[in-house]
Amino acid sequence: MIETLTSRAAIHACTASWRAAGLKVAFVPTMGALHEGHLALVRAARSTADKVVASIFVNPLQFGPGEDLARYPRPIEKDRMLLASAGADVLFLPPVAEMYPSGSETRVVQERLPNHLCGAERPGHFTGVLTVVLKLFHQVRPHVAFFGRKDYQQTVVLRRMAKDLDLDLELEIRVEPTVREPDGLAMSSRNAYLSAEDRRRAPAIKRALDAVVRAFVAGERRTAELLSAGRAVLAAEGGIETQYFVASDPETLEARADTVRSGDLVAFAGKLGGTRLIDNVALP
Ligand code: PAJ
Repeated sequence: MIETLTSRAAIHACTASWRAAGLKVAFVPTMGALHEGHLALVRAARSTADKVVASIFVNPLQFGPGEDLARYPRPIEKDRMLLASAGADVLFLPPVAEMYPSGSETRVVQERLPNHLCGAERPGHFTGVLTVVLKLFHQVRPHVAFFGRKDYQQTVVLRRMAKDLDLDLELEIRVEPTVREPDGLAMSSRNAYLSAEDRRRAPAIKRALDAVVRAFVAGERRTAELLSAGRAVLAAEGGIETQYFVASDPETLEARADTVRSGDLVAFAGKLGGTRLIDNVALP
């Protein structure tokens, strides 16, 4: 059975004893409402380390005003079962007051990366992500931490933080592929918000990204022409309010104004009936 720890002191002592015994510790941070995308990270962690810690913490700091913090799903008993069956040893489940006791005011801020993509749409979001993940890293002290490519910008900002704050000297960050529904929709805890009608529309997001990849493979390199192949798919489906649909440098995240190259990021964010979804692919 999986052990649940809720205090910073308890998780720190637990992983410290594992470390002292020479065991390799892997960490999978989540906000819960777990699906196959999360569980694939836990299984990857299981296969590379001796001990696996997963955390569930719906981080208030990364939600903007008017976002879904209050209604974010919290099916904790189901999550606990799923984590146990995927092979996690410990669930770290801190209350908000444990992570942000009153008086907390120190934040991790990046200068440039959050000006792009989701950071531009959600001011303060990546400050919230960076701050909570740095805290979790200190509390858990893993040898290796796992993240999903679905949240591509998140992986870039976290890798940047690891380098800038010298975490990379003893911590490996691993990024795993996006896990999808059979119809191509990227798995997300927020898919549960979709109406039946919007759920039927949502796979158009991946079809749009695939259309861009096909145009690239067919030889198109001009950014505008390439993206219009994808936009046409979204427009044909209808009911999808695009926030961004861009080709970007995969490291700086700067938009490609004129032409794209192999390895570039193609990323989508948009709303279906008020539910915000994101997805991305790499150009081959
Ligand atoms: P959450 O959205 O719960 O996601 C937890 C981890 O699961 C992230 O690394 C995310 O990229 C990954 N993930 C989500 N959907 C996935 C999918 N379909 N395929 C593969 N991986 C997927 O991301 C967060 O939580 C938070 O920002 C967090 C890092 C926990 C900080 O609060």
